[in-house]
Amino acid sequence: MSETPSSGEVNNATQNAGPTGTSATSSDEQLSSLQKQEESYVPSAEVKARAHVADFDALYEKSIADPQAFWAEQAQGLEWFSPWHEVMQWQAAPPQVKWFLNAQFNITVNALDRHVKHGRRNKVALLWVGEPGGGQDGATTAPERALTYGQLLRRVNQCANVLKGLGVQQGDRVTLYMGLTPELPIAMLACARIGAIHSVVYGGFSAPALRSRIEDSQSKVVICTDIGYRRGKRINLKGAVDEAVEGLESVEKVLVYRRDPATTLNSDLEIDFETALDAESAECEPARLDSETPLFFLYTSGTTGKPKGVVHVHGGYAVGTSYTHKICFDYHEDDIYWCTADPGWITGHSYVVYGPLINGATVLLAEGALDFPDAGRWWSVIEKYGVNIFYSTPTAIRALMRFGEEYPAKYDLSSLKVMGTVGEPINPEAWLWYHKNIGHEKTPIVDTWWQTETGQFMIATVPSYPTKPGSPGKPLPGIEADVADKEGHPVEPGKGGFLVIKKPWPAMMRTIYKDPERYEKYWNTIPGLYSAGDVATKDEEGYIRVMGRADDVMNVSGYRIGTAEVESALVSHAAVAEAAVIGKPDPVKGENIKAFVILRQGNEPSEQLMTSLKQQVREELGPIAIPGEIEFVGSLPKTRSGKIMRRVLKAKELGVEPGDISTLED
Ligand code: WTA
Repeated sequence: MSETPSSGEVNNATQNAGPTGTSATSSDEQLSSLQKQEESYVPSAEVKARAHVADFDALYEKSIADPQAFWAEQAQGLEWFSPWHEVMQWQAAPPQVKWFLNAQFNITVNALDRHVKHGRRNKVALLWVGEPGGGQDGATTAPERALTYGQLLRRVNQCANVLKGLGVQQGDRVTLYMGLTPELPIAMLACARIGAIHSVVYGGFSAPALRSRIEDSQSKVVICTDIGYRRGKRINLKGAVDEAVEGLESVEKVLVYRRDPATTLNSDLEIDFETALDAESAECEPARLDSETPLFFLYTSGTTGKPKGVVHVHGGYAVGTSYTHKICFDYHEDDIYWCTADPGWITGHSYVVYGPLINGATVLLAEGALDFPDAGRWWSVIEKYGVNIFYSTPTAIRALMRFGEEYPAKYDLSSLKVMGTVGEPINPEAWLWYHKNIGHEKTPIVDTWWQTETGQFMIATVPSYPTKPGSPGKPLPGIEADVADKEGHPVEPGKGGFLVIKKPWPAMMRTIYKDPERYEKYWNTIPGLYSAGDVATKDEEGYIRVMGRADDVMNVSGYRIGTAEVESALVSHAAVAEAAVIGKPDPVKGENIKAFVILRQGNEPSEQLMTSLKQQVREELGPIAIPGEIEFVGSLPKTRSGKIMRRVLKAKELGVEPGDISTLED
């Protein structure tokens, strides 16, 4: 098991998919990471022939010459109840954007009805595979379910009718806390059908984290799954919901999808999901909504301790996600599409549910862990279902790389046509391992840069375009992105700067729920430009490379976690006086959380206390936020005004110069 790719794989790259501009000599074995980054991988003639975008540069030029015409053209392919009067309206101060003004629209018509009407009624929409053994005592095979577009529409309508019956109206919020089964997309689409706003909370968050999100959104109904399966264990989701909704006035009902018939519904609050749906009509007229009607909130971490509710709307979001899903993955009618993300994250919203369903794809959903029952699980799923498009994360690839090449080698992965990655920078070693062992040196890799806030892919190279390992590539057609200094001036090639977007795009967030000032900050940190919060470089050819976050947000296994969130969880422990948290480079997870803790008087550092602090974070936030390391310290570096200088802690930890500290003081 080696962490680095075996020697020669760069040399061995086939002519079609191989790097350009380097001669294959044995010195390639010694290629540094930096050199690997310079390599450019050219797609094969076969890939190009199949591509939706034949000439990326030409399309880009055209799109930038008239972005509104470009986006209107993409929107034409969708079904609108009534057309827009204006493509886009942008107001700079305070920043406010609208797309497809005055048009009437419903995203579910595009994800469901349109397909049912036009020949895809019996096409499989969702192909679900459970964890091997999951749900059946003693079973070793994985349970499977398939829902056609016709069936999915009926179930969504039934669920929408249940919600209506519970008094949910347009604009009301519904929180979803569910495991990965078709019921999650069903519940999301049901909310959208009637113009209600869904707020999906990732099943790995703890009860207090769930509660604060239900409270912030003032949800009327919560929909949950009783249990999930992971690594042979049952995950109790309903337990967290019971705790989270206790005493919350806004919550009128909890719909429980029971995978275990023995789960009891223990209060007046709870209703059985299946029974309620079965009793409803399978017809439900989609609400005719203004295209700017909110579709969902998704809470994400920022620089304060409080997560922000990013708001996305029906019209522009549908256009941005479906268009990018099609061109970046070169999606074609018969492709089996698998994105390994949980729908609890933006990737799950845009590229498990909405984008692919609007395109009429067959979407595979696989429950469980990547290494259970063994590290060949994902590759076995690709072989068994003939997956054509596979979309995952660098953390997952690095984790699978550690188990060795023998696992993917056991399976037939020849069905793969496009592979994607998202969430964090992919290091060239992991990229090359993916390229060689999964893509067999011919399947293009699409590295997609985007954010919860952007809603859609922003920077990526389409499959027909040359890629460079570790770089998502160039801004997509319709998107103007750059690397700029604090004043917004573009920096020279190779120099570090802030990643900015210059013009509005259709799937961008419209605001932060109940916090317009936080929304404005994205547009006024560097006046007139959207600041992504990432630091990046751009090379001579225009390829952008993301170095990481510019702010106090960590990226652990591709999950965004605010330092302030972990710090506030730690200081809520009785023994803690102060805490500071940093992200430390980790070979698998990208970053690992390290906490520096000052104890209150009368407390002594101990192993036991360390465990208790980790437990505190687990309870407050969930397992993903637990610090891998905790160090007890006597003091923390601070500015004169008392702000903790995390940058100094990080520099010390990494053994580098902290830079000019005086400039950090305020
Ligand atoms: C990071 C996930 C490098 C980045 C879709 C961004 C990436 C944050 C990439 C958003 C990529 C995402 N290469 N970094 N391809 N994709 N990031 O909101 O720091 O969970 O700002 O959205 O992830 O994380 P979020």
